[in-house]
Amino acid sequence: MSNAAEIVQKDLACLWHPFTQQKIWPSEPPLVISGGQGNWLVDIDGKRYFDGVSSLWVTVHGHGEPAINQAIKEQVEALDHSTMLGLTHPKAALLAAELARLTPPSLSRVFFSESGSTAVEIALKIAYQYWQLKGQSKKRTFVSLAEAYHGDTIGAVSIGGIELFHEVYRPLLFAKHTIAQPNKNKPGSAERSVADLARVLAEHAEEICALVIEPRVQGAAGMIIQPDGYLSTVCRMAHEAGVLVVADEVATGFGRTGAMFACQLEGVCPDLMALGKGLTGGVLPLAATMASEEIYEAFLGEFDEFRHFFHGHTYTGNPIACAAALANLALMQSRDILANVAARAAQLARGLAELARLDHVVDVRQQGMMCGVELAADKASGLAYAPGRRMGHQVIMAARRRGVIIRPLGDTVVLMPPLSSSEQEIAFLLEVVGQAIVEATEEGA
Ligand SMILES: Cc1ncc(COP(=O)(O)O)c(C=O)c1O
Repeated sequence: MSNAAEIVQKDLACLWHPFTQQKIWPSEPPLVISGGQGNWLVDIDGKRYFDGVSSLWVTVHGHGEPAINQAIKEQVEALDHSTMLGLTHPKAALLAAELARLTPPSLSRVFFSESGSTAVEIALKIAYQYWQLKGQSKKRTFVSLAEAYHGDTIGAVSIGGIELFHEVYRPLLFAKHTIAQPNKNKPGSAERSVADLARVLAEHAEEICALVIEPRVQGAAGMIIQPDGYLSTVCRMAHEAGVLVVADEVATGFGRTGAMFACQLEGVCPDLMALGKGLTGGVLPLAATMASEEIYEAFLGEFDEFRHFFHGHTYTGNPIACAAALANLALMQSRDILANVAARAAQLARGLAELARLDHVVDVRQQGMMCGVELAADKASGLAYAPGRRMGHQVIMAARRRGVIIRPLGDTVVLMPPLSSSEQEIAFLLEVVGQAIVEATEEGA
């Protein structure tokens, strides 16, 4: 087994980390994680950390869950991989049926890929091709929300709205319409967003393939929560204007928001849905794009009509990942994980109300087990910290010293613990985050 120094040396020599300024990466010795047990990560020296962001929003039952591990072991013995081009296999078919049963009733078909970005990319291509096949050749654009995040591939970036991540690529991207960001904590913002959508639909509906939306919570925007009724309103408006609805549930799906899928909180039936992250319980990369039967049927025809969906990835529907997903979904039901989410979300709400009282906390936001704590230099005016201060980062480093791993979005501290977290673990998370905010903001005052 290599020691920490050797790993760090090889990391610094050869690795390029995601969303990371590599110039300053070596200035803080990287933490080497070499184990995971339940809701905790373990570093190479044996120190334990509570996984406060579910390893980037994916972990459902904790790390090393025996039932998922067993399903993976059995699948490796039976069949490691086989292509889905021209062949099928049991786990993909069983998982597709299970997803069709669990998702809103509008969705009946499943197209597998490997990441949330590809699930979104596939939804965009299906939506576009659907309208082309229906003879609506003018439908070539999309509408999405300000500060939307749908992944990092070019199509997903095209409909994204986070300037810092997306603007530099604008010349490479397809055009889209943007509507204002609805924020439950900003009065009037949802009304503005609805008015924007009404105007865009009135002027351009015949050119728009789909409204693409992160239902209920815009995650990467900073855990921005939509007010009740917003989602169902905009989806109804899109449908009435002959525009499809693509629900990007990559972050919100699989119990995070308190329901199995965020759309179900408002009885919304999308035409397409992107799923990823928690699908395998956070164990293996697998994503799915769900489609309605009506969309699926538009692609049917004789072979030489070439109405096929010409898209596929080498590892589409990998059997091991599908086996992990089936085990995850079975456990979610047998353990009634949504009941735990309800209890822990109520506990988080109480804790966030305490954090809201701290000097530099200007907003707290929560939907189920997705939470954001926004920091600012001045509470009264809301004046932001200078970006170079990296206050969000200072807070997560202070939390790390106390045994909690979290990751911020700018100066918003994100709390997204595993759905299996216990009452004691959530209490520990809240206590540490409170202390870390006080320490970092006092030092930075
Ligand atoms: C709403 C949403 N869509 C898509 C993605 C992209 O997923 P991935 O990172 O697996 O490509 C993310 C990732 O955070 C997301 O939050």
